[in-house]
Amino acid sequence: MTHVNLVADNRRLALDDQDQTRELPALWLRERSPAPDTLDPRTGQRLIEAADLPLDLRIEQADVDGQQLSVRFSDGHQADFDLDTLLKPSSRQADKPLWDAGLEHTPEADFNAALDDDGALLDMLDELHRYGFVLVSNVPTTEDGMHALIERIGPLRRTNWGGIADVKSVANAYDLTMTQRGLEPHTDNPYRDPIPGYIWLHCLTNAADGGDNTLVDGYRAAQVLRERDPAAFDALSRVWPTFRYEDETTYLESEGPLIELNSEGEPVRVRFSNRTELVPALPADELEAYYAARQQFNQLITGDELTVHLKLNPGQMLIMDNYRLFHGRRAYELAGGVRHLRQGYVDRDSTASRREVLRRQQQTSRNNEEVA
Ligand code: OGA
Ligand code: ZN
Repeated sequence: MTHVNLVADNRRLALDDQDQTRELPALWLRERSPAPDTLDPRTGQRLIEAADLPLDLRIEQADVDGQQLSVRFSDGHQADFDLDTLLKPSSRQADKPLWDAGLEHTPEADFNAALDDDGALLDMLDELHRYGFVLVSNVPTTEDGMHALIERIGPLRRTNWGGIADVKSVANAYDLTMTQRGLEPHTDNPYRDPIPGYIWLHCLTNAADGGDNTLVDGYRAAQVLRERDPAAFDALSRVWPTFRYEDETTYLESEGPLIELNSEGEPVRVRFSNRTELVPALPADELEAYYAARQQFNQLITGDELTVHLKLNPGQMLIMDNYRLFHGRRAYELAGGVRHLRQGYVDRDSTASRREVLRRQQQTSRNNEEVA
């Protein structure tokens, strides 16, 4: 049972809920008013100039009835708030279970089901949201086979590499046992702004021997580092390296920490790109602390404790959160033929939007079923 009082000369509203009290300034409530003269019901956009609201705004009357808080303000405005919505914590990380090498559940989806059915598409996007990757089966083994499913979610991100691009190796005709290089765990393209949100990696043919992909949950790696060496964790969230790529026609540059935190101190984005990282000329102490921390972090993300191995077969595809996962591949040998993968990028906002809209649609149709 929530109780409401007016405090601070009616400039604040105090909510007592069990043993917790929260004070909400009148201004904060007023600008968040869901009333249709303040908030456009279709777009959620604010229709008043919040920065012009009088700083001495007061609350004249406030009542709680169940989950509803009704408020009348000194500017005459009146609004009803849903307490759950109003006080919902801003953390978006809570529904993401962290994982390591012991991951028991492989998040999976079927290409055709996700293509044809909104429920299956939502399930796929939910798995991707929770685990940071999903393994999709039955993708057509044509060059742009992934495209139909991208169309269901958001625009394909075009870069200087093109849209859906090759990740390909051909065996050296003169040396059939030539070893194809492995790739250490990394995030893709931290030199872009924005950095590609999701990587779609689609297998057309794989090597018989090796060539499996490695995945590490970067949020888990950050958590482990924080537990074992808080100072190292601090160094990696404090220092902002630059990441740069250049060739004859392109110059791309962006900067940010290996472990990026949100306002609540939770990791929200990781970066690791040995080939493109440039550490600024910081004081020597700071640099030495950074290098020790980075080495520890590298040992974590290349070690067995956190790494999941997954070998893609033709017609399989990985969708990976490039803000959360480190991915790599093991070396492979081609005795002829090719290892041919295709790769595309899709942004985070369009992917999150699709999931949220599908969730709301599903909720609405469930509610309608209950009413019917
Ligand atoms: C890459 C990459 C994965 C693979 O090229 O950045 O991660 O399986 N490739 O080849
Ligand atoms: Zn990569």
